[in-house]
Amino acid sequence: MSFKDKTIVITGASGGIGGETARLFAGEGANVVVNYFSSPEKAEVIIRELEEAGCEAFAFKADVSSPEEVKAMMEAAVERFGRIDVLVNCAAKHPPPMFDFKDPDWEYWKCMAHVNVMGVLVCSHCATSPLRESGGNIVNVVMDWDAGGLGYTLTKTAGTPLTRGLARELAPIRVNAVSPGAVDTWGMTDEEKEYFTGITLLKRVGQPVDIAKAILFLASEDASFITGATIQVDGGTRLLV
Ligand SMILES: NC(=O)c1ccc[n+]([C@@H]2O[C@H](COP(=O)([O-])OP(=O)(O)OC[C@H]3O[C@@H](n4cnc5c(N)ncnc54)[C@H](OP(=O)(O)O)[C@@H]3O)[C@@H](O)[C@H]2O)c1
Repeated sequence: MSFKDKTIVITGASGGIGGETARLFAGEGANVVVNYFSSPEKAEVIIRELEEAGCEAFAFKADVSSPEEVKAMMEAAVERFGRIDVLVNCAAKHPPPMFDFKDPDWEYWKCMAHVNVMGVLVCSHCATSPLRESGGNIVNVVMDWDAGGLGYTLTKTAGTPLTRGLARELAPIRVNAVSPGAVDTWGMTDEEKEYFTGITLLKRVGQPVDIAKAILFLASEDASFITGATIQVDGGTRLLV
């Protein structure tokens, strides 16, 4: 599975899953654009690692829900590398705070909807022309399991129909999604590990590399007849919640 000389734009690449995805693509020879929003220092750490691995990469600050900022990021990617082959929509706004129905924080709720739903649409829209030129594809990081949340999980479960809608709209650009289970990107407490292990058939929490491997598969030629699909990489969690 080689991505030699391909250009990969990863939103939320300053985060746990996005950062690991950047490392795996770099290991396959890709050029990588590391998008971040509020964590320039984390983005810089990733960039240093990628460059040490011989990868060409740069960091770009953009709010994924801002069409102007995202357009500038895609233009910068094309200017530097001449092409975009894969867009990974990994950025997300997540709790805390949890959505509290008795005392709702509407501004936070709106921000989650903007980043988690509109952000996927905005980035996909802005990457369409270069992806058409390169014959490229899109992979979204969504959440396809949910006990009925009204905040974060509501916005993330929208990613599955959004993926299907984009696949219909953009074909032959392939658009697929990965739905992680509980992945330890924030330093889970022992209580959290015990809880998430308990709702996972395979009896462990996920690691960023579990998700990154599935993203690379969907982005690769090995998945050339797959579009509109969501792969569950959750150790069976959706069967238990
Ligand atoms: N971890 C899990 O258990 C789990 C489970 C299911 C789904 N997911 C999904 O997996 C993806 C990655 O999550 P993670 O666990 O790796 O979380 P994370 O480490 O907190 O990463 C989140 C990323 O989103 C970026 N981001 C937030 N708001 C943004 C904005 N407005 N514009 C651009 N980037 C923005 C953050 O960038 P800055 O820090 O630079 O602001 C960060 O890089 C998310 O889509 C999440 O919903 C995670």
